Amino acid sequence: EGSDTPPGNKWSFSGPFGTFDRGALQRGLKVYKEVCSSCHGLSYVAFRNLAESGGPGYSVAQASAFASEYKVKDGPNDAGDMFERPGRPADYFPSPFPNEQAARAANGGAAPPDLSLITKARSYKRGFPWFIFDVFTQYQEQGPDYVTALLQGYEEKVPEGVTIPEGSYYNRYFPGHAIKMPKPLSDGQVTYDDGSPTTVAQYAKDVTTFLMWTAEPHMEARKRLGFQVFVFLIIFAGLMYFTKKKVWADSH
Ligand code: HEM
Repeated sequence: EGSDTPPGNKWSFSGPFGTFDRGALQRGLKVYKEVCSSCHGLSYVAFRNLAESGGPGYSVAQASAFASEYKVKDGPNDAGDMFERPGRPADYFPSPFPNEQAARAANGGAAPPDLSLITKARSYKRGFPWFIFDVFTQYQEQGPDYVTALLQGYEEKVPEGVTIPEGSYYNRYFPGHAIKMPKPLSDGQVTYDDGSPTTVAQYAKDVTTFLMWTAEPHMEARKRLGFQVFVFLIIFAGLMYFTKKKVWADSH
């Protein structure tokens, strides 16, 4: 049997004027760093991106300080050796495993996917012509709804008729229900300094918002420009209408 349909959520980034909730992005980064990063890479995101507009809203100095907490592999140096040094803003988030084989070996045969684009990769698109309707409906929320649901979808009690092989875990929302990712989040696991609840539900929403940003860092600029294009087209259509009237005024 397949899997349950993830419930919908109210996301700050949905709709034509949606923006990212800065607090959620900052908390989500913390959840990624303290929990997910031990298994999942974020290899398309550079530390400098954390200081770019439309993102978590850190200053360049804060992004540099954050980067310097990481050890990054570099080299070879003049002596021909590889070495480690503190991260710099231009570095990308380091991946937890050196390669896919190591990632599989450490996780019971299933490599944890890179999370940079996961919210896009897990949204499904219907075939022609139905995808046209998805553009106007909840298409952009399918991925985030799934990721949030997955993180909250672990249950102790496996329903009757479902068998979970050794080394896999029951998850309501994972296709086929047997996932090799152990339940990553539990209440109180990550501390928040802004008073937000430290619950699995809150962690899941925050880290998903963060992963939506990593997958589409220029979403806010895109939506702003899209709106400006619409305003322009409406004004331009009006101008063209009156121009047409004037040009054709004598022609009857
Ligand atoms: C798979 C998210 C923490 C190991 C996944 C998937 C997502 C995800 C979205 C893809 C599921 C799919 O294919 O549809 C996260 C997030 C985490 C987290 C947001 C932090 C909150 C961890 C941790 C580990 C881990 C700590 C290792 C202990 C795995 C593995 C898979 C996986 C092995 C592949 C599962 C399979 O294909 O059966 N994770 N993960 N994850 N994750 Fe995580």
